[in-house]
Amino acid sequence: MKLLVTGGLGFIGSNFIRHILGSRKDAKIVNLDLQTYAGNPANLADLASDPRYRWVKGDIADPKIVDKCMTAGIDAVVHFAAETHVDRSILDAAVFLRTNVIGTQVLLDAALKYKVSRFIHVSTDEVYGSVPKGFSKEGDALEPNSPYAASKAASDLLVRSYFVTHKAPVIVTRASNNFGPFQFPEKALPLMITNWIDGLPFPRYGDGKQVRDWLYVLDHARAISLVLDKGVVGEIYNIGGIEHCENNELIETVRGIMGKPKDLVWEVPDRPGHDRRYAIDCGKLKKLGFKHAFKFSQALEQTVRWYQQNEDWWRPLRSDASYKAYYIEQYRSRLASGVSTGRK
Ligand code: TYD
Repeated sequence: MKLLVTGGLGFIGSNFIRHILGSRKDAKIVNLDLQTYAGNPANLADLASDPRYRWVKGDIADPKIVDKCMTAGIDAVVHFAAETHVDRSILDAAVFLRTNVIGTQVLLDAALKYKVSRFIHVSTDEVYGSVPKGFSKEGDALEPNSPYAASKAASDLLVRSYFVTHKAPVIVTRASNNFGPFQFPEKALPLMITNWIDGLPFPRYGDGKQVRDWLYVLDHARAISLVLDKGVVGEIYNIGGIEHCENNELIETVRGIMGKPKDLVWEVPDRPGHDRRYAIDCGKLKKLGFKHAFKFSQALEQTVRWYQQNEDWWRPLRSDASYKAYYIEQYRSRLASGVSTGRK
């Protein structure tokens, strides 16, 4: 099986590629990745000399490079490439629309032209918006609240339209918050761990009572692999995690693992439009036979250890250490000017 993976130098894409090459002897992978700030060749350094793996540096929104990748006789596309950080989308949405929407359209057109047999579009539970209670099902209305979530919802709908209009063999997956090795240290968990290694506080947005559903990245990779084999074309599959908890609980658990004092939490103004709670129903995925392989506490501890043991990997990524302070300053000035934080 020959796969075109997009965004394979990113956090989830790189874990997926390693999982596939480790679990399928017949797999070959072309990884189309632009190497933006979040795409890092070091994430797949161990595969650099594997003859089954090839990285093509390029933009998914560029039809020429996408066409070149598809001519290599691709069986299936697994599309991870996306701008994903909510905070960045609040400050500048343009690149989110270009990559997440236009990039998806370019890939879909090429997949149709070259008649690939599967197109897995990797999406997020954030498209459902904040869910005060209960669990989002795949057919629920999309109510994205951040420009990031809106760009993913737009791409999900575009994928759906290619199924209805062109009979494209698409499947959409919507995962909850991922954690694990190689996650860029701007997302909550790696930011917390790496700040605490350096004795810096973690900036907690608002009251910290937001609820997230934490999915270990290797379970996510296993779920996508299953969907690739057994998923039904035209369907959507939620991929949820193993632990629902408030950010405050997550902070306490990581503090316990790392043995850090309480004053390393810095209360900062809330993120504008901050979703209070995400929760998804994964019954459909479980009907395909999916079971989580990792326990939350063990996976979390392993993740903390990974960051403790891999400073060489994350330290260069934090060289622009001011970037978070800059965001927080933005929030402060927005609040001071009376712009709603959008909290529910
Ligand atoms: P994040 O990793 O950005 O994922 P998402 O917002 O897409 O769910 O954030 C996870 C949670 O942690 C979310 O409720 C926002 C919160 N958070 C903070 O409190 N401080 C931070 O510096 C960051 C990055 C996130």
